[in-house]
Amino acid sequence: RQREKDTLFEANAYATKLYHYILRNTAAGTPAMDYLRSRGFTDKLIEEFGIGYAPSRWDTLTQALARNNFGLDEMERGGLLLKRQEGEGFVDRFRDRVMFPIHGSDGKVIAFAGRLMSAGQPKYMNSPETPVFNKSRTLYRLHEARGPIRKLRQVVLFEGYVDVIKAWSAGVHNGVATMGTALTAEHASVLRRFADEAILCYDGDDAGQAAAQKSIPILEEAGLRVRVGMLPKGKDPDEYISENGPDAFMREVIEGAVSTVKFQLIYLRKSHILLEEEGKIRYLRSAVKLIARRESPTEREMYLKELAQEFGVSIDTLKQEASEVRRQEK
Ligand code: CTP
Ligand code: MN
Ligand code: MN
Ligand code: MN
Ligand code: MN
Repeated sequence: RQREKDTLFEANAYATKLYHYILRNTAAGTPAMDYLRSRGFTDKLIEEFGIGYAPSRWDTLTQALARNNFGLDEMERGGLLLKRQEGEGFVDRFRDRVMFPIHGSDGKVIAFAGRLMSAGQPKYMNSPETPVFNKSRTLYRLHEARGPIRKLRQVVLFEGYVDVIKAWSAGVHNGVATMGTALTAEHASVLRRFADEAILCYDGDDAGQAAAQKSIPILEEAGLRVRVGMLPKGKDPDEYISENGPDAFMREVIEGAVSTVKFQLIYLRKSHILLEEEGKIRYLRSAVKLIARRESPTEREMYLKELAQEFGVSIDTLKQEASEVRRQEK
């Protein structure tokens, strides 16, 4: 068992080196280098993140692994190769993709994410679950970000690999991402060991906002304080940094991250038409319900006061309504 794992670690380290070499030193890697540069990847980022390129040929890695006496059956189980559809033998799993190695908790490469450079499907291909790779436990960059997370007692959660990388270049060294899957309680409890606070920095689209809604209770239940970094509509952190620069990202999005209640109120607002009385009342009701669920009386008072002022109703009425909700939900 352990022997097989060690072999997979060795093969993953070898593949990381090969993909990186191809990107940096071969003609096959030139279009990928151009692509990365056009997306603002500097040499420093490419080195720091061990980025590589898997060429479009069917057997680049297969041949290289065979030459180095790796057992190809084992490499297939390790997620690097696929069985040929017809006939015998194996082919490369990752072809014509920019390769992002993913490190496990002890720093060894346990998996890869490969991004197509053109607009094909799927945009990202990840390694399958293997003896060394468990998706619901793995967080991209956790091994490298652990030190900064501990020091700041804070972790920043992104949706995308590129977001983690670009945020790192903007000075956010405590950033991690899930593996294209939802955040799990396992992820949250791992993070709780190093951090007291999590900042959610998901994409500013509907999918990102919905994912944030789902992640909030999972993180809170693990005992983390949560804030949400707000991005302009349709933008993800990578795009925000490219358009507004690293300082604005740090100041506006990270430091300016809002409380979960604020975030949920903003989110709630989008589904109500506040131009009309009826819409206002419905919004107020849902908003009070949301605030009523907060455990801290100070917090509740603060948000209710803001609502009361904005909608020109008395705070006492809202407080009464909130108490009613609390009684019902007990
Ligand atoms: N993802 C995935 N498979 C896909 C699409 C997305 O696993 N076919 C995951 C990846 O982890 C990706 C994340 O979901 O990083 C967020 O997806 P998306 O916002 O679409 O991609 P970006 O990270 O913004 O990628 P890019 O900037 O390269 O387009
Ligand atoms: Mn190098
Ligand atoms: Mn997205
Ligand atoms: Mn995105
Ligand atoms: Mn993106």
